[in-house]
Parts: sequence; structure tokens; C-alpha cells
Amino acid sequence: MSDVNNLLKKAYQMNDLTKEEITYLLENITDADRAALFSYALKTKQAYYGDKVYLRGLIEFSNICRQDCLYCGIRASNAKVERYRLTLEEILACCDQGYKLGYRTFVLQSGEDLWYTEEILVDLISAISKSYPEVAITLSIGERRTETYQSLFAAGADRFLMRHETASKELYEKLHPTMRFEDRRACLSTLKDLGYQVGAGFMVGLPGQTPADLAEDLRYLKEFHPDMIGIGPFIPHSETPLGAEKGGTVEDTLVMVALARLLIPDSLIPATTALGTLNPQGRELALEAGANVVMPIITPTSVRKQYELYENKICGDDHPEDCRYCIERKIQAAGFDVDLGRGDSQQFVSR
Ligand code: 5AD
Repeated sequence: MSDVNNLLKKAYQMNDLTKEEITYLLENITDADRAALFSYALKTKQAYYGDKVYLRGLIEFSNICRQDCLYCGIRASNAKVERYRLTLEEILACCDQGYKLGYRTFVLQSGEDLWYTEEILVDLISAISKSYPEVAITLSIGERRTETYQSLFAAGADRFLMRHETASKELYEKLHPTMRFEDRRACLSTLKDLGYQVGAGFMVGLPGQTPADLAEDLRYLKEFHPDMIGIGPFIPHSETPLGAEKGGTVEDTLVMVALARLLIPDSLIPATTALGTLNPQGRELALEAGANVVMPIITPTSVRKQYELYENKICGDDHPEDCRYCIERKIQAAGFDVDLGRGDSQQFVSR
């Protein structure tokens, strides 16, 4: 048996690997090893969550951003993207439609847009939780003050998604000229301490990213133990400084999804839109490699294409109801069961 094979077995049985072991594995994995890895990851997911795939309705409510991340299509310096900002009424209308389509988690995502002050966000969250008391509210709005995170939690927000993007400080600082590595980590810890279910995660295939960097991403996740883990391929956007770079692959991303499942077995792992963008079957492949969440878009069709973090993002012309049923068919065809419940993480349920 190969070394890689032994490492995979260890990961499956112990849910742990050292940084050196992960690096070795990433550098030496073969196609046959990959198949074994995906099958271990699928079994692990089934042991913790069965065949359920949780759906979340994603509302991209503003593409205005004060940050200037080198990879991102809505970075502040991109003057070519047409900017939009949904009003409270428009966001509530999305929720209404999402609720009717059966979603019981709303993910409110935006660029770092300070037009939405703490006060405005508190009003929004209060209105949503009053109208839909059984719904889980997830925020994905980037870095704010601790006091703001606290007020938003008190107003009824349950979860917060904020990818750590990369666990390499050096790479992080190259990619985020307007941000600090330590601030990101501190925000994630604060959110967890405040009682949010927290989602971290990273991109695969960033320029200059090494197997050791990716191993460090998994070690960070193992130690931080978030409730959710978002992993997607980096996809170059032509209107950014990284427009001519290569980008991540579906294959490499699936390996990271599967390893995340083995190392943090009780986490919720989305089959990301970026994977679906690189390959029409990308999200189904992720479900078969350990992912168990899908986040269909319920952003109004009129502004969807403007939320362009990367190019050729799928579902740009679709309506919320199209995505709802398209995804259900895909999940069922892959042999899994759609679950429209809140879908809290196992870690949260046992807390
Ligand atoms: N390719 C892939 N993912 C991207 N993101 C931002 N820009 C890109 C890109 N060009 C991801 C980041 C961010 C999440 C919302 O989208 O990881 O946290």
C-alpha cells in the first residue's frame, strides 16, 4: 500500500493529519488515491449528516465594496462594474419569495458596504426575524466592529460566513492590500465567541499558493473548528490585477473539500457556485466528495449579473424559482435528499 493510501486511512479513522502529512499527500496523490479519498469523505459525511443536502437562499444585496482584494471582480478599484444596493424593502421582498420557495435559511451577502450601518442592519435583521421566526439568518458582510457584530447577533442573526481566504500570512497580505491578516483572524474568533455559528474557508489555486499553504488552511480549520467551511476554486476576473493568472481546478478543489470533511467531520460544507461555474457538474461532484450544503441564488434577476466576483458565474439570467428547482433536480439525480430545514451544524446542535 502506498504512503498516500496509509495517510488517507489515517485521516478517515482519526480525523487528523499533521501539516507535513497533508503536504505530502497533496504532492503525491494519484487518481486512484483521489477516488479512495472521495469515498472516505462521502462515508464520513453520511455518518454525520446522512444523505441530506441543506439549501440556503442567497441574497446578494449590494456589490459596493470598500476593500480592494486583488482577485475579486467587485473590488473598489474596478470602475467597470455597475454598482447596486438593494433597499430594505427589496431585501424583504427577496426573503418573502425565498420563504415561499421553502428556504428556511437566508444568507445576506454583500461587499463591505458601510452604507448599511449597524442601525440599518439591525432594523433589517429584526424585520426578517419578526416575519420569519423559524428562519436562520446568516450574514456575509465582511469585517465590522465587535460591537456591531454583537448588536446584529442580538437582533437575531444566527450565523456569519467569512472566509479566511488563505492561511498564509504572506499570501494574504499580497492579495489584500487594504486588509490585515490578524484582523481577519480576530473577527472570526470574535464572531465565534459572540455565539454565531461561524463559516470560514479559502480559495484553491491562488497565484503563488503552495501545497504547504493549503495544508496550513486545513490545519487552521481543524484548530478553529468552524461550523461551516466554504472552499472554492479561484477564478480569474479580467478586470482585476490577477486577470491573466491561471486559476484553480475542480479536481484540486474537490481534494480540499474531501480533506476538510475528513479533518472537520461535523462541519457544514457547501458545494460552491464557483465549482458549478468551472464545471456544470461541479457541485454534484462536491456532494460526492463530502459537501452537504448548496446555496441557490435568490437575488433579483435584474441585478444578479452585477454581483460578479468572478466571470461567467452561473445562473445570471435565472429567476429564484428556476434555481430552486434546478438544484433540487441535480441533488436528487446525484442520489441525495434535499432538506429545507434550518440545517444547523452538528457542532452547534451538541453545544
Ligand atoms: N474567484 C473565486 N472566488 C472568489 N471570491 C471572490 N473573488 C473570487 C474569485 N475571483 C470568493 C472569496 C470571498 C467569497 C465571497 O467569494 O473567497 O470570500
